[in-house]
Amino acid sequence: MSDGPKTVAEGGHAIESVLTETRTFPPPAAFAAASLVGSEAAYAAMVEKAEGDHEGFWAEQAGQLEWAAKWTRTLEWTAPDAKWFVGGRLNATASCLDRHAASWRKNKAALLFEGEPGDTRVLTYGQLHREVCKAANALGALGVRAGDFVAIYLPMIPEAVVAMLACARIGAPHTIVFGGFSAEALSDRIKDSRAKLVITADGGWRRGAIVPLKDNVDKALVGTGSADGGSPANAGVPGRAGGSPANAGVPGRDGGSPANAGVPGVERVLVVKRTGNAVAWGPKDVWWHDVVGTASARHVAPSFDSEHPLFSLYTSGTTGKPKGILHTTGGYLTGAAYTSKYVFDLRDDDVFWCTADIGWVTGHSYVVYGPLANGATVLMYEGAPDAPTKSRFWEIIERWGVTVFYTAPTAIRAFMRWGDEHPAAHDLSSLRLLGSVGEPINPEAWMWYRDKIGGARCPIVDTWWQTETGAIMIAPLPGATTTKPGSATRALPGIAADVVKKDGTPCGPNEGGFLVIKRPWPSMLRTIFGDHERFAKTYFGEIEGVYFAGDGARKDADGYFWIMGRVDDVINVAGHRLSTMEVESALASHPKVAEAAVVGRPDDLKGQAIVAFVTPRAGVTADDALATELRAHVTTQIGALARPEEVRFADALPKTRSGKIMRRLLREVASGSTARGDTTTLEDQGVLETLAQAYASDD
Ligand code: WT7
Repeated sequence: MSDGPKTVAEGGHAIESVLTETRTFPPPAAFAAASLVGSEAAYAAMVEKAEGDHEGFWAEQAGQLEWAAKWTRTLEWTAPDAKWFVGGRLNATASCLDRHAASWRKNKAALLFEGEPGDTRVLTYGQLHREVCKAANALGALGVRAGDFVAIYLPMIPEAVVAMLACARIGAPHTIVFGGFSAEALSDRIKDSRAKLVITADGGWRRGAIVPLKDNVDKALVGTGSADGGSPANAGVPGRAGGSPANAGVPGRDGGSPANAGVPGVERVLVVKRTGNAVAWGPKDVWWHDVVGTASARHVAPSFDSEHPLFSLYTSGTTGKPKGILHTTGGYLTGAAYTSKYVFDLRDDDVFWCTADIGWVTGHSYVVYGPLANGATVLMYEGAPDAPTKSRFWEIIERWGVTVFYTAPTAIRAFMRWGDEHPAAHDLSSLRLLGSVGEPINPEAWMWYRDKIGGARCPIVDTWWQTETGAIMIAPLPGATTTKPGSATRALPGIAADVVKKDGTPCGPNEGGFLVIKRPWPSMLRTIFGDHERFAKTYFGEIEGVYFAGDGARKDADGYFWIMGRVDDVINVAGHRLSTMEVESALASHPKVAEAAVVGRPDDLKGQAIVAFVTPRAGVTADDALATELRAHVTTQIGALARPEEVRFADALPKTRSGKIMRRLLREVASGSTARGDTTTLEDQGVLETLAQAYASDD
C-alpha cells in the first residue's frame, strides 16, 4: 500500500442504514434442530475449544481430510510465514474424489451442469474421478510436472473443474484467469505465473454470444494483447509494464512482434471444444478431446508436502500490478472443507449452488475444493442470469432442486430491480439456506433476499473473506447464530478477527477501525508469487504483528462485525476487486491521455462504480467520442469489468504541493457531495471548482 491505511473510507451506500439496523433473526427452530451446530451453546463450545487449543482445533479439522502421511507439527509460525501441518503429505484430489469414488458416493452426483444454451451434464463422483485421472495422465504426457504452473482460461463448464483437479492431482499449481479478462490482462498473468501450459476453450457462451477465449490466448501469447499494446505511451507508466520487473525484458510484449515470438515458457495450449466456432491453430495447440479423451483413467495419486503450492490467483492490490496470491495444499483444503461444512451446514442430500465463476476465489473454494471435499453435489451454470430471460436462476433452482444458494449482493440487487414476478413464478421451496459474498450487503437487499428468495424460511449467511484468506472468516453458523441484516456477524471458531486502531489497540463498540486477524489460520495465503517482500509489507507490515485485511469495520455491542469497505486504493465493483492504479495505468497508456485518476463512487447496483478523471494531452479535444474511446481502451487493457462508468475531463487534477493526487477530494466530487474537509494542502484551489462544475453540468 502506497501511504498506509487511511481513515475508514466512505464504505458505500449501505453504511447509513446499517448504523440504525436493529432487526434480528434467530435461526428458525426447524433449521436449527436439523443442523450441525444447532444452538448458541454449541457455537460457544466450539469457539472455546478453538481459543483454548488453537492448533488442536485446526488439527481436528485437518483430520477430516485424507492424508497419505500425518503431519508431525500442526503449525510453524514466524510472522509473516506460516507452515501448517508440517511434514504431512496429501493429494488434494484424494480428499475431493478418490475417497468418495471408493464409497457409497461413487454414483452420487458430484457435478450437475447446465450450459447457457440449455445443454446439461451430470458427473457422478465415480465419473468425475475418472475424468480427472484421464486429464492428469494427459497433462503428464504433455510434459507438465509437479511444480509447473498451468494457466486456466475456461468458461464455467465441467472441464474447468476437471482441469483444476487434474493439476492438483499431479502437483502442478493452477492459475485461473477469469474469462472476462482481456488478452492483455491474460498475458500479464501468464507471464507473471511463468505458466508452462495454458488450458482454454474455443469459446464460452455468454448471453447467446461466444466469448472468444482461444483467440484471446493466441493474442496473449504473441504478446500483443491489444493493437496498441506496444505503444510508447506505456513507457514510464509506473506500475504497468515499466514498473514490473517480472515483465521486464519479456520478448513479444513491448516489441509487439507479429511473429509468434511467444510468451517464454508456454509450451502447449490445451483447447476444449465448447462452442464449435472456428479457431486459429498453431504448433502448440492440442485439442482436449484428442489427448484427455484417449488417456487412461487409471492414475495413482502421488502425495505432496502439505505446503506444496496448490494454486495462485491474481487479485488487485493498491498498485498497478496484480498480486499472485499463493495458496498451499493442506492448509487451504482444511479451510475450504471446514467452512463449507459448517457455514453451509452441508448434508449429503444438498444441492449446493455457488454462482461464482471459477476465475474468482469463491469459485475455487465453494464450487470446487470445499464442497467436493465434503462429498456434496455441486451445481454449475455456464452463463448469465438473464439469458435467455430474467428467470434463468429461478428456473435452475426449481429444475435441479437447489437447497443451498450462494451469490453476491450485486446480483441480488439486480434481481430486485428486475422484479418480484420472476422468482414468484417459480417453485423455490427446495431452498433451505442462502448465502452472500463479495461486498457489503445492504439491509434492503438482505430483506428482499430473505423474503422473496428464501420465503422468509431460510437463514442467510453473509460471509466475509478474501482471496488472501482462502476461505470464509466471518459468517454466521446458520443453525446457531442470530443474524442481523447487513452484518456478517462473528468470526468462525478458530478465526481471531478484531477491529483495531492503527496502533493495534482494539476499538470500542461501534468505533470504526481496521479489520485484522490476530492469529494465523490454515488457509491463509503464504506469499505473493515472486514478491515475498510485498506480501510481508502489505499484510503484516501495516499493523504490528497482525494480518491487515485492507477493510474498515466496526463491531457492535454484541460483538457483531459490520464491514465498511476498503480503506485502501482498492475498489469493489459488483463484488470484483480492482485497483484504482491498475485502471489509471490502463488509461495512461492511451496516447491521448496525459494523466488520469480513478476513484470509486457509491452505486445502487454495483456497490461501487468507477469514475475516471482524465486530463487529455495538449491539442486533444475532450468530448463524448474520447470518453467512449477511453472506456473501450480500458476494456482491451483489462476487461469490461474495469470499464469506467463515467469519464470526466479536466485540465488539471487536484494535487498537493508535493504532487500527490488528492483522491479523497475526487471521491467527494464523484459522489456528488461538495468537497468538505481539509483542502489546505491543495495546490490549486481553482481545480476543484472546475471539477465540481463539470459534475453539475453533466448531471
Ligand atoms: C474483499 C475481498 C471473498 C470472495 C469474494 C471477494 C469484500 C468480501 C464481503 C462481505 C463485506 C466483503 C471486502 C474484502 N468483501 N466479502 N461479506 N461483506 N465486504 O474476494 O476479490 O478477494 O475481495 O471483498 O472488501 O476485502 P476478493
